[in-house]
Amino acid sequence: MATKKKKSAKSAAAKPAKKGKLWGGRFEGGTDASVEQFTESVSFDQRLAPFDIRGSMAHARMLGRQKIIPQADAAKIVKGLQGVLARIEAGKFDFDPALEDVHMNVESALTEAIGPVGGKLHTGRSRNDQVATATRLWQRAQIDATALAFEKLIGTILKISEKETETILPGYTHLQRAQPVTLAHHLLAYAQMFARDLERLGEVRARTNVLPLGSGALSGSSLPLDRAGVAKELGFAALTQNSLDAVSDRDYQFEFLSAATLSGLHLSRLCEELVLWSSAEFGFVQMSDAFTTGSSLMPQKRNPDVAEIIRGKSGRLAGNLVSLLTMVKGLPLSYNRDMQEDKERLFDSADTWLACVQLTEKMLRATKFNRKKMAEAAADPMLLATELADYLVRKGLPFRQAHEVVGKLVAACEKQNKTLVDFTPGELKNFCELFGADAPGVLDARAAVGARTLVGGPAPKAVARQMKELQKVLAKPRPWR
Ligand code: ARG
Repeated sequence: MATKKKKSAKSAAAKPAKKGKLWGGRFEGGTDASVEQFTESVSFDQRLAPFDIRGSMAHARMLGRQKIIPQADAAKIVKGLQGVLARIEAGKFDFDPALEDVHMNVESALTEAIGPVGGKLHTGRSRNDQVATATRLWQRAQIDATALAFEKLIGTILKISEKETETILPGYTHLQRAQPVTLAHHLLAYAQMFARDLERLGEVRARTNVLPLGSGALSGSSLPLDRAGVAKELGFAALTQNSLDAVSDRDYQFEFLSAATLSGLHLSRLCEELVLWSSAEFGFVQMSDAFTTGSSLMPQKRNPDVAEIIRGKSGRLAGNLVSLLTMVKGLPLSYNRDMQEDKERLFDSADTWLACVQLTEKMLRATKFNRKKMAEAAADPMLLATELADYLVRKGLPFRQAHEVVGKLVAACEKQNKTLVDFTPGELKNFCELFGADAPGVLDARAAVGARTLVGGPAPKAVARQMKELQKVLAKPRPWR
């Protein structure tokens, strides 16, 4: 959940601190205004507020349950936090950059609201385990939203594919027409990639869903904190097992960003094909007005900008991952302030990824596929040369020899300006006597596709099986539903 960015946050950063720092005890002098501006993170980490507050509420309740603070104080803190959250959600909260980050803004507002008892919230806790907890909670929610978007996208591809299991188009290698496939099979190749992206999200979620709170600044706490109780309340499946690791671990973010990067490549490749296919040269698709734009100069243009931008965004996803990896490389244990640099890259990738998945789904749903153009492109009998070679293999000829024979046929076609279907069975026999009267029969795109029934093949029968397996992926019980 994103909270509105306050414009005042940045401008106020230039002024010296008005409020006392929560960590100000040992300091005599104030912080230079330029340092405050340089080190603040509240202008971007304020979107963690709802998650930070949820973590704080669970922590406060636990402190009360464990009699570390009086139950009544815990209740006051929880109520005060609810008030702070309500103000933030209503956009009535002024984040103060002098208070550095979202955590101290919330705590300071709490104490302002309920008095010195607010100062008990931070008992047995540090911002280091606090920020790790809030970020994990935030990332978990982001994973869930992205996973749902992927399920929708895969569902849309399945829906389109159901209608296109008989739609023949050329399959390409090296961007050269190679062999006929079906549109369903082609689109489902992307559904497979997205299903892997979905599984990966589930795996990253499991490693995200671990509670660091109770790790303190770096070495836990001597107070009888009930970590398991906090985990249960926040829906974390496990506790981090080493306090030093817990406050310095950003692996869950790297995994999320690398899943995003990989998925960005998949989305980018699909979008590239839509761009290519929407060109006059291919004409395989017509993209909807809603997802294209015109040219300011050329009235006839319909540009596939959305697909192009999604293709372009993949670079940004990769960049964010590299930026984060580089930021943590070589840091000594445990928490280091460098780590504050994680948030903008993380947020940017998460937002970019989710938007790309959602837009791809909508764009695909609105795209018209031109079966006629595809059929025309697939009509070239040369795409069936392999079928003739396979015919000879079935007659007992070693494949290499069969390849040679059909190669000669293809050469003859080029010389005589013919195509493979122009040879009579008798003429075929001149190239190899294993060719029988039934040989020309294999030169049929539909038959060629229909015969490829192996698991993973393009035959309608095999594609039906593939779609069933994907439906199973969508039906799996998942924590995000
Ligand atoms: N804003 C900080 C971050 O994002 C929170 C943790 C700060 N801890 C500290 N000891 N200064 O990393």
